[in-house]
Amino acid sequence: MPTLTAPADAKVQLTEANKAFIKRANKLLIDGQWVPSASGKTFPTYNPATGEVITRCAEGDKEDINRAVAAARQAFEKGPWKDLTASERGRIVWKIGDLMLEHADELAELEAYDNGKTRGVARYVDVPLSADAFHYMAGWATKICGQTFPISVPYMPGSKFHAMSLREPVGVVGQIIPWNFPLLMAAWKLAPALAAGCTVVLKPAEQTPLTALRLGELMIEAGVPPGVVNIVTGYGETAGASLAAHDDVDKVAFTGSTEVGKLIVQAAAGNLKKVSLELGGKSPNVIFKDTADLETAINGAANAVFFNHGQCCVAGTRLFAEKAVFDQVVDGIASRAKKIKLGFGLDEDTQMGPLVSEEQLARVTGYLEAGKRDGAEFVTGGVRHGDRGYFVEPTIITNTKPHMSVVQEEIFGPVLVAEPFSDEEDLIRRANDTTYGLAAAVWTKDTARAHRIAKAYRAGTVWVNCYNVFDSALPFGGYKQSGWGREMSGEALALYTESKAVIVAL
Ligand code: NAI
Ligand code: MG
Repeated sequence: MPTLTAPADAKVQLTEANKAFIKRANKLLIDGQWVPSASGKTFPTYNPATGEVITRCAEGDKEDINRAVAAARQAFEKGPWKDLTASERGRIVWKIGDLMLEHADELAELEAYDNGKTRGVARYVDVPLSADAFHYMAGWATKICGQTFPISVPYMPGSKFHAMSLREPVGVVGQIIPWNFPLLMAAWKLAPALAAGCTVVLKPAEQTPLTALRLGELMIEAGVPPGVVNIVTGYGETAGASLAAHDDVDKVAFTGSTEVGKLIVQAAAGNLKKVSLELGGKSPNVIFKDTADLETAINGAANAVFFNHGQCCVAGTRLFAEKAVFDQVVDGIASRAKKIKLGFGLDEDTQMGPLVSEEQLARVTGYLEAGKRDGAEFVTGGVRHGDRGYFVEPTIITNTKPHMSVVQEEIFGPVLVAEPFSDEEDLIRRANDTTYGLAAAVWTKDTARAHRIAKAYRAGTVWVNCYNVFDSALPFGGYKQSGWGREMSGEALALYTESKAVIVAL
C-alpha cells in the first residue's frame, strides 16, 4: 500500500511573491488591462490535496470573450504589434522565456499548489519546458518564409511572371487549454502564435487558472503590447464555447478531451475558422523479452503510466509484455507502485500528488469500479486513497478483455492495464486497436524490430527504449481521434500562418 503523507496536516507555506500574486489573481487580462469579469462573477480554484479553496478567479463569459476578441482584432490590425519587425517580435518572445526562468521557483510552486503535481516535476519539467517553448519559437520569428515558384501557365504562352508565396499570420487565435500541464499548454499555444505575429485570446482550464494569469503578467513585463494576448478565465461550456464559436476568431487551437474536441469542430463551423486539436490517448507500451535491460524497461513502463499521476495525454496506459517476462514485468511495476509516496505536491518527499479535481476523482474511480464489475484482476491499487483530497492509488489491472472500458477508454489517472503477448504481428494489431493514436513505445534491442514496429504504429510519437521524451524541436500531435495538426517544431508554424500566392506579371 502506498504511504500517504496526510495533506490535512500539510502546511501551505508559499513564497511571499505567490501569496501576493494569489490576492490579485481575480482579474481577466483584456487589452493590456487587468479587469473584473463583466458580470462581476467569480469561481473557485481548489487545492486538490485538501479540497480547500485557494482563491476565486474572475468568471469570464460571452461578454468578456467578445471584449477580448475585439481587443485582439484591434491589436492584429492596428498598433505596434503589426509594425514590429520579425526580429523585434522574436526578442519579445525570447524575453518571455527568460522571465519564466527567472521566476521558475515561484511558477513551479504555484503550479504544484493549483494542479496537485509535485513541486519537483513542476520545477524540473513543466517550467523549463515551458520557457524553452518560448526560446525555441523566438528563433522561428525571423525564419517564417514563403517560396518562389518557376510557373509555366500553359494557356498563356510567351507570358512571364515572378511567382512567390507569402507566409502571413492567420489572425486572431482562440486557444483553449487543459489542466494537466497548465503552464506548458499555455506555452505550447502562445509561443508559436506570437512568433507568427498572431494575436490571442487564451482560455485556461477552470481547474488551474493561476499560472496562466501569472504568465500574463510576465508577458506584459516582456513587452507584449496591449491586446496581443488576452486571458479570459472561466468555464468551458460558457467562456470556452463562446470563444470556439466566435465569428471574429480566425483560428481555434484546443487541447483536451476528444469529446470536447468534437464540440469545438462543430462550433468552428459557423465561420469555418481553422481548427487544430490535441486530444486524448490510450498509448501502447510494448516490452519484448529481448530488451537490453529489463529493469530499465520496468522503470520506463512505471514512469510511462504514473508520471504526473497518469494525467498525461501520452500516458503509457496499455502495457504489452512478452509472455516469458510478463509476470516479472508486472511484479516489478507493482512493487514500484506500492512504494510511491502519495501526498501534498508541495511537500518535499511527495512522489505522487492528487488528481486535479473531485470530478476527475469520480471519473477515475468510476473506471476502477467498472473494471471490477467486468471481472478484471487488480494486482495493486484500485481504490481512492484516504478520504481527503483527490488521491487514487497507483493501480495495475490484468486479465482484461478487449471490450472492457478500462481497456478502451482514456482513464487519465495512475491506472495501467497489462496484457501478455507472444506474436509480433498479433501484438501490432492489438496495440493499434484503439480509436486514439497519440503515442506508443517499444522496448527491444533488436534494431530491425524497433524500426518495423515504429513504422507499424498508427501514432504521432513513437519512443524506442525510452518514454516521455519531449522537446520543442519535435512535432507533437495525434493520428486518428487524437487530433488534428502538429504542435511545437517548425510544423507548429503551419497552424498559425496562412500561405498567400502572389503572381507578378513581368
Ligand atoms: P475538457 O476537454 O472538458 O477541458 C479542456 C478545456 O476545454 C478546458 O479549458 C475546458 O474549460 C474547455 N471546455 C470544456 N467544454 C468546452 C466547450 N463546450 N467548448 C469550449 N471549451 C470547452 O476536459 P475535462 O472535462 O477537464 O477532462 C475530461 C477528460 O478529458 C479527462 O479525463 C481526460 O481523459 C481528457 N483530457 C485530455 C487532455 C489532453 O491532454 N489531451 C487534457 C485534459 C483532459
Ligand atoms: Mg469538461
